[in-house]
Amino acid sequence: MPARVQKVVPAAPDEGVIQEAAAILVAGGLVAFPTETVYGLGANAMDAVAVARIFAAKGRPADNPIIVHLADASMLAGVVTSVPERARVLIARCWPGPLTLVLPASPAVPKVTRGGLPTVAVRVPAHRVAIALIRAAGCPIAAPSANLSGRPSPTTAQHVLADLSDAVDLVLDSGPTPLGVESTVLDLTRRVPTVLRHGGVPLETLKEILGRVSVARTRGTGAAALRRSPGTRYRHYAPRADMILVDGPYERMAAEVAAVVGRLWSQGLRVGVMATAETAPTVPSGAVVRIMGRRDDAATIAARLFAQMRELDSAGLDAIVVEAVPERGLGRAVMDRLRRAAGVRK
Ligand code: TXA
Ligand code: MG
Repeated sequence: MPARVQKVVPAAPDEGVIQEAAAILVAGGLVAFPTETVYGLGANAMDAVAVARIFAAKGRPADNPIIVHLADASMLAGVVTSVPERARVLIARCWPGPLTLVLPASPAVPKVTRGGLPTVAVRVPAHRVAIALIRAAGCPIAAPSANLSGRPSPTTAQHVLADLSDAVDLVLDSGPTPLGVESTVLDLTRRVPTVLRHGGVPLETLKEILGRVSVARTRGTGAAALRRSPGTRYRHYAPRADMILVDGPYERMAAEVAAVVGRLWSQGLRVGVMATAETAPTVPSGAVVRIMGRRDDAATIAARLFAQMRELDSAGLDAIVVEAVPERGLGRAVMDRLRRAAGVRK
């Protein structure tokens, strides 16, 4: 049965709708809801059977743990065994917000939620609908991005329905999510805080707050690295069309993109292009073009990223050529998602 959809205005979430959604979660059901990053597929984090339904709905490997969402930091006591000082500092600066912290898990958190790990990933989303829902449910909410495993994350309720319509009980639709890329995942159980996934809180901000921060080599093949950062092992954010990432000096970008498009055309392929505002005017006409945003405007590029991948993918193209953007601030998360979508291993 296709999921029911309820519109919810973020500025003033309707209490009746929130109560109905919370009742579904308490009864062991699945509710897709907006956060500031992407839509999440939520279940009661403490209900192993409900969380197992998330894995089944997404086709998610069982060893890939799920982020536990809290309404505020006071809920940490129910899911972690300790909150180190550096976590307190980060929480004061970054919550609510797109920062997920990996901490030692309380045994009360079911193993299925943690993917069998002794740690749990937690965050407080900066979205009034998400917070109202968690508060009304009265329990921590486990929620991965509400897409089929391996597909681009959903930034609209329509994306959720395209992937998971039959598997979710209710979708709360608050329009496009403001940030557009997922939260930064930071492991605080290691000696040096380690970024496992770039996201909404830039590395620069974490370094400013913590001093020393390392970055996990997510695309490596080392078994130990993969165990610590399970979600980074799989090909992600991948459109059905081939994605070709064009990198290189920005002065030559326009020429390089045009050359790649020409090469693909000569093979008889249908081509889409995701180009910055600077490059878009010189893309050969005939290609389906999406403008990512100005090269220095990573916030706009991030907000449009996944929707553009999905749009071009449903346009029946064989290949999507996408331009690299500067790898600083939010641009790090954008480049990480583009590399994964293009299947680059390095
Ligand atoms: O912005 C977001 O983080 C969104 C919204 C819905 O909150 N959620 C999201 O969840 O992106 P998901 O499941 O798509 O990605 C969670 C990432 C995965 O890479 C997973 O492996 C990692 O966090 N993760 C979760 N628990 C972990 C743990 N205990 N240790 C290490 N990594 C963990
Ligand atoms: Mg995901």
